[in-house]
Amino acid sequence: MVDADSTQDKVRIIHVGLGGWGGDWEKNAIPPVTEVERVAIVDAHEPTLRAAQKTLGLPDEVCFTSLTEAAKAVPAEGVVVTAPMTFHVPVALEALDAGLHVLVEKPFAGTVAEARTAVERAEELGLVLQVSQNYRFYPGAQTARRLIAEGAVGDLSVVHVDFRRWDHDEPAGTYRHYQFPHPLIYDMAIHHFDLLRMTTGREAVSVYAKVTDPPWSRYTEEASAVLVVELEGGLVCSYRGSWVSRAPQTAWDGEWVFDGADGYLTLTGRGDDGPADDEVRLGLRGRAAEPVELPTMELWGRSAGLRQFARAVRGGAAPDVTGRSNLGSVALMEAAARSAASGRVEQVERTGGTSA
Ligand SMILES: NC(=O)c1ccc[n+]([C@@H]2O[C@H](COP(=O)([O-])OP(=O)(O)OC[C@H]3O[C@@H](n4cnc5c(N)ncnc54)[C@H](O)[C@@H]3O)[C@@H](O)[C@H]2O)c1
Repeated sequence: MVDADSTQDKVRIIHVGLGGWGGDWEKNAIPPVTEVERVAIVDAHEPTLRAAQKTLGLPDEVCFTSLTEAAKAVPAEGVVVTAPMTFHVPVALEALDAGLHVLVEKPFAGTVAEARTAVERAEELGLVLQVSQNYRFYPGAQTARRLIAEGAVGDLSVVHVDFRRWDHDEPAGTYRHYQFPHPLIYDMAIHHFDLLRMTTGREAVSVYAKVTDPPWSRYTEEASAVLVVELEGGLVCSYRGSWVSRAPQTAWDGEWVFDGADGYLTLTGRGDDGPADDEVRLGLRGRAAEPVELPTMELWGRSAGLRQFARAVRGGAAPDVTGRSNLGSVALMEAAARSAASGRVEQVERTGGTSA
């Protein structure tokens, strides 16, 4: 039995992509995970690499502008990829071909076809490929999933999700979020799509997305939309998401209502300060909703996923979100983006993924 806490048994990881979110991984997500040791950093942009090197106080020998160079120079077992989405699969393939296990940020890829290339390569090589869907690892989302699976509200009749943020105070042309591809659907709604599969245990079948951007939006592509998602068994989810909302702001999870035959469940959470903002309420047979006690979690969010990664690399259980199981979330995201452009209902590719 491996003692995951002893230094020599730590999983040695190379961290690729030290931009805004990668820096936050270094500060907040990696340090609590005793099962890993970050042994090298990689950023393709030299000034970003050097800035990260300085912040982290690292010697030149462990800082690289190429993953292949890093993998040759520093013995490692895994890679954490926090580069932007377009680089996820190329970097994942580079890592897998170097014999390294991969944990990659969301969104895994822009298309199922691209994501599948990495899934298949990992399976051929027998390496772990995991996607960091960090919103799953919060007590609110996990409790909602458990209660729904236990039938606490009976058969679901409909799910409603609202996400509202005001992210519109930067001058046009200077703020990179305004140029993101599909800033609502790729960058944000992917979290909610993944939670929808997780909490209901159902795969999406079709989606209609109506973009609702106001004429003054500074975003190049959709920053707000209303979606209708049909899931297996005819269950419908209404989803309203916006980066340009003046209405009361939601937590990152958004605000969820799971309406069932015997009652309803509400969920919100994934606040900026950890699980303390999570809240689940249960209202049964017309009675007012009562808060549900949530479990305490030693690690949550990205750190909880990273711990699963380390344990899977050491031969333990597969992580909750493998590359393959995440294909269903990518498929819904891809179809939603297609619908936003086509104005039609789009079928969601059936990937054979599971929503567990
Ligand atoms: N899960 C969450 O809650 C959450 C929150 C924010 C961002 N993210 C995700 O994190 C990822 C990174 O976002 P960000 O805001 O930090 O982006 P960013 O643009 O600030 O940083 C990305 C960094 O990756 C580097 N890079 C690009 N290609 C590379 C390559 N091939 N090899 C090495 N380095 C490379 C860039 O030079 C840059 O420094 C995105 O996928 C984003 O969706 C997730």
